[in-house]
Amino acid sequence: MSMVQRNIILLGAPGAGKGTQSERLVADYGIPQISTGDILRNERKIQSDLGKEAAEYMDSGRLVPDELVIRMVEKRLAQDDCAGGFILDGFPRTVEQADKLAEMLQKSGKTLSAVINIVVAEDILAKRLLGRRKCPGCGANYNVFFSPPKATEQCDSCGAGLEQRKDDNEETIRQRFEVYQKQTQPLVDYYRSRGVYAEIDGEKPVEEIYARVRQEVERLCGKV
Ligand code: AP5
Repeated sequence: MSMVQRNIILLGAPGAGKGTQSERLVADYGIPQISTGDILRNERKIQSDLGKEAAEYMDSGRLVPDELVIRMVEKRLAQDDCAGGFILDGFPRTVEQADKLAEMLQKSGKTLSAVINIVVAEDILAKRLLGRRKCPGCGANYNVFFSPPKATEQCDSCGAGLEQRKDDNEETIRQRFEVYQKQTQPLVDYYRSRGVYAEIDGEKPVEEIYARVRQEVERLCGKV
């Protein structure tokens, strides 16, 4: 039996649900989620040079320079747990990053299986981002509009006070949308022309979207 590789990119504007859907793919397929946003936020937490350099870009809603992010992803993709597949969440975000990813994969004898774009209108995206909260204790996710905790701003499972991401404020959200339109939207045509692309309506309930994501993953990657 041949080993199916699920080398997946989740594309979508800020707040489209890339992280939410990735979690489910990780649980179902046992392949790692590579979120460049999460890696960068972690670098900031441990105050590495990379984290310090990335901070000003992230807080203003602009992209961290390509070369830094590309190096970071190259290192992560070389790790053993990516051998059977991976989910890229938030990368690539520019044509330069997409070209470099193609090179990296080619060098390691891999091919991209699926690029799934989750599409949501900006007014809904903004509400999702403004409502997003995370528990710093156990990592649970909430949304004050769509999936609120039982007690205001408090985690249901561990009771810790919930946190909001620094870039989830109106001004930075506007900038992130603009950057997405200008720098990331061109990737739709880029991948469409390569025959690995699928588009999904991201304005449905989470589980309904996931059913579609799975369908497209199975179609584009092939079943085991
Ligand atoms: P990053 O962390 O990647 O943020 P983003 O792309 O803006 O995406 P988000 O994480 O905000 O949204 P998401 O699509 O994962 O949505 P989620 O599932 O959380 O990047 C942050 C910054 O890092 C960038 O601005 C840049 O500076 C830097 N960076 C990162 N990668 C880079 C790169 N490659 N190059 C250069 N710079 C880079 O959902 C959002 C909310 O909506 C949640 O509350 C969720 O519960 C809710 N929700 C989700 N789905 C639904 C649904 N179907 N119905 C109702 N609510 C829903």
